[in-house]
Amino acid sequence: METNKSNKNECLTPVIDFNLITDFFKRIDRQGPGAVEMTIKALEFVGPMDENTKIADIGCGTGGQTQTLRENTKSSIMAVDLIPQMIEKLKERIWENSLGKRIEGIVASMDNLPFRDEEFDLIWAEGSIYHIGFERGINEWKRFLKPGGYLAVSEVTWLRGNPPKAIKEYWTNAYPEIDFTSVKIKQMEKAGYEPVATFVLPQYCWMENYYKPMLPVFDKFLEQQSSSDSARGFVEEMKEEISYYEKYKDYYSYTFFIGRKY
Ligand SMILES: C[S@@+](CC[C@H](N)C(=O)[O-])C[C@H]1O[C@@H](n2cnc3c(N)ncnc32)[C@H](O)[C@@H]1O
Repeated sequence: METNKSNKNECLTPVIDFNLITDFFKRIDRQGPGAVEMTIKALEFVGPMDENTKIADIGCGTGGQTQTLRENTKSSIMAVDLIPQMIEKLKERIWENSLGKRIEGIVASMDNLPFRDEEFDLIWAEGSIYHIGFERGINEWKRFLKPGGYLAVSEVTWLRGNPPKAIKEYWTNAYPEIDFTSVKIKQMEKAGYEPVATFVLPQYCWMENYYKPMLPVFDKFLEQQSSSDSARGFVEEMKEEISYYEKYKDYYSYTFFIGRKY
């Protein structure tokens, strides 16, 4: 869901239709590439956690990774999303799984978070930091982490040099901050994080887990949205994103970045 085509540095006012986006994404499990086992893998690089550990899950969507974090820690989790309907779905999901006790879901924007300085031991942002921009996000969110606290975010990166012009243009337009892992690590170091680990999400996280579940959903979604211009535009954009991925998947992926504040 690369929807951040314009809002780089100013207030993150979305140019998207919340109801449309939610109506589509509530039909599929994930709102971005990833996998339960990738969330667990990233979690393994984070220091010891117990019932006193506080996690912020920023841009949580309907809470796929929130649930995994909940199931694999004893910690409390503050899950945040800009779209109220995402938080509603997260609450339904938590309730369905009887996992509610340690999770709070709030509606807030990642550029204006209602957190206290040094409130959290871990900040998690899976497939969402691009909305604020990687460099801005890691810098602005740092004050919410305790000294020694961890940051775990996934971010789209180039895997190979000299990507073909078509995919370079596509991604530069969708997310001008797309870059190499080495560049993002330097940004983390500059921002005051020790790099702890990075790993690249395998291709099945995109195709099997994210794009394929969309394919059977497009027609029903359009029918229920009465094939409105915005619904058709949204589906066309998603299909374009998928076809770029099919053609150029060797050139980019999401990379998980885990860092520790010093
Ligand atoms: C690509 S989805 C990822 C969702 C989830 N983390 C996952 O991996 O399934 C990005 C999420 O960021 C949320 N988002 C967009 N802009 C935001 C903002 N300014 N503040 C907080 N959340 C935002 C979207 O509503 C969406 O749920």
